[in-house]
Amino acid sequence: MRQLSENPASTCGVFRLRPIYTWMMLEPATSITAAAEYSIDFAREQLKGKKVIALTGAGLSTDSGIPDYRGEGRVARHPMTYDVFMGSHEARVRYWARSYVGWSRIAEAKPNLGHRALATAQASGRLRQIITQNVDGLHQAAGATEVIDLHGRLDRVICTSCKKLISRRELDDVLRAMNPSVLKSTSIEFTPDGDAEVEVSTDFQIPDCSSCHSILKPDVVFFGESVPVERAELAMRNLDTADALLVAGTSLTVNSGMRFARAAAKSGKPIVIVNLGPTRADELAVAKIEANTSLALERLLIG
Ligand SMILES: NC(=O)c1ccc[n+]([C@@H]2O[C@H](COP(=O)([O-])OP(=O)(O)OC[C@H]3O[C@@H](n4cnc5c(N)ncnc54)[C@H](O)[C@@H]3O)[C@@H](O)[C@H]2O)c1
Ligand SMILES: [Zn+2]
Repeated sequence: MRQLSENPASTCGVFRLRPIYTWMMLEPATSITAAAEYSIDFAREQLKGKKVIALTGAGLSTDSGIPDYRGEGRVARHPMTYDVFMGSHEARVRYWARSYVGWSRIAEAKPNLGHRALATAQASGRLRQIITQNVDGLHQAAGATEVIDLHGRLDRVICTSCKKLISRRELDDVLRAMNPSVLKSTSIEFTPDGDAEVEVSTDFQIPDCSSCHSILKPDVVFFGESVPVERAELAMRNLDTADALLVAGTSLTVNSGMRFARAAAKSGKPIVIVNLGPTRADELAVAKIEANTSLALERLLIG
């Protein structure tokens, strides 16, 4: 799927690129193994006639060009935590300056066959709801309607005080107007957070809330921050009314996702997993399909 390379250091406006290991999307897989075909047939039987709910993660969007965190060949990253972001103006300048460069790459991403298969399955009634840990909005872009964005959305910005929401696109215009000398470069590598691997000048200007002048934050759940209680409870209630769980493209390393697998197993709901590589729920699953989500979900849910 991906390979590592090293970028030379270079300069770009007020940003200085530093040497980093980068992620490059390789050609999407075109076939799946006989073992995976067999697992799909078995899993289809397990899901037959059941009210299925899906839990998705970063692996679903890698074929759309958005890197995951823990797939094969990934270098460990340490995304900015909630405490660091809220703790200083300098940290927020760093976050928004890097996001200013990196976000447009996420905004341009298009849904892939995996997103489309889930949306089609939802439209036909084969799949009830999608709980996603992704913040990229690609399920909705593929036409899915019943989606809970567990960790929020990168295309929204929220005031941490009055909770006013604005679109990330609107914020982009404000950042551009405040920082006319900063040029975005499409050649800069970006990360799953819509962040770019750049070092940032402290001159970068960031806005506050236009209503109450408090801190603006991307409307996503940062590491070290909790999923809003009502959202987590709504997702759990939806799982309660389903009778099978389909897990796709997630290692389930993050507890806010893993708890759904634990709850499904506890109440005896069959769990089917489609993921390349291990997940924390492998031992709880009735079927584990080791295959690319773009290929496997269509075979599993459609036709
Ligand atoms: N697209 C996004 O919105 C995005 C991207 C990265 C991270 N995140 C955030 O970071 C957290 C990461 O946790 P996670 O479990 O979702 O991701 P993760 O990186 O821990 O796990 C992704 C898993 O998907 C597998 N995978 C990658 N491409 C695949 C493919 N095409 N087919 C099948 N499997 C594939 C990987 O091997 C890995 O096991 C999430 O909470 C999420 O909020 C979001
Ligand atoms: Zn406000």
